[in-house]
Amino acid sequence: MVIIKSDEEIELIRKSNILLGQLHAEVAKHIKPGVKTIELDKLAYDFIVNHGGKPAFLHYRGYPATLCISVNDVVVHGIPGDYVIKEGDIVSIDSGIILGGYYSDSAFTYAVGEVPQQVWTLMKATKESLYRGIEQAKVGNRVGDIGFTVENYVKKFGFSVVRELTGHGVGRHLHEDPAVPNYGIRGYGKRLKNGMTIAIEPMVNMGKHDIYIEKDGWTVRTADGKPSAHYELSIAIRDKEPDILSTFDYIYEAIEQNDYISAP
Ligand code: MF3
Ligand code: CO
Repeated sequence: MVIIKSDEEIELIRKSNILLGQLHAEVAKHIKPGVKTIELDKLAYDFIVNHGGKPAFLHYRGYPATLCISVNDVVVHGIPGDYVIKEGDIVSIDSGIILGGYYSDSAFTYAVGEVPQQVWTLMKATKESLYRGIEQAKVGNRVGDIGFTVENYVKKFGFSVVRELTGHGVGRHLHEDPAVPNYGIRGYGKRLKNGMTIAIEPMVNMGKHDIYIEKDGWTVRTADGKPSAHYELSIAIRDKEPDILSTFDYIYEAIEQNDYISAP
């Protein structure tokens, strides 16, 4: 069942997402070669709690951390641990916060030091596909218009979208209806209505779309071992144009101040 939000609720979801944008920036300041992913998770936990929020992912269906940190061929749901970030990695960070009873959810992929041209193109195309998907997210369109647009864009580069995982409604729960796949058919799927809030999150593989889940029950990897990128924003559906509730603005400020990382 799709839950339509009031204007007041949408503002609360925006508030949660602004804090989440600031959290992403705080984490981004600390991404550099030599850092363990668990260290990033610790500071993320502290940041959220110190700002009156609750980590949305921690203990969600038993997930053990505040962040998902997914490096290189890890698509999503990488569990922070002893992995040491190194030059040439791409690092996707996904997180969510509960603030004032409402969930935020967004993700961003960074390059650490120099990455091959093709990897940069993967990041750029994934981010662009997110914005093209968002453009479709308006009243009168359907969920399939979003997915079609995302997949159609990235496949021109020879990239592929992950099919097993999707975007989703977001609000008082992390995952609400509708599911928002990164593939679809124009004009098909649930109708988009004013006041719906959804997270759109293309997960794009450089090679084949196939994935597998590691024995830890979480870590999703590409079957062919090639890299994957992930960008996610939460938005509200409006009559005229989508209202982007998450923000990457703080992230870009942090990137400017951190010589070790970059992003398209
Ligand atoms: N942002 C992801 C999603 O929307 C991650 C949530 S999975 C969790 O599905 F377990 F880590 F919370
Ligand atoms: Co999500």
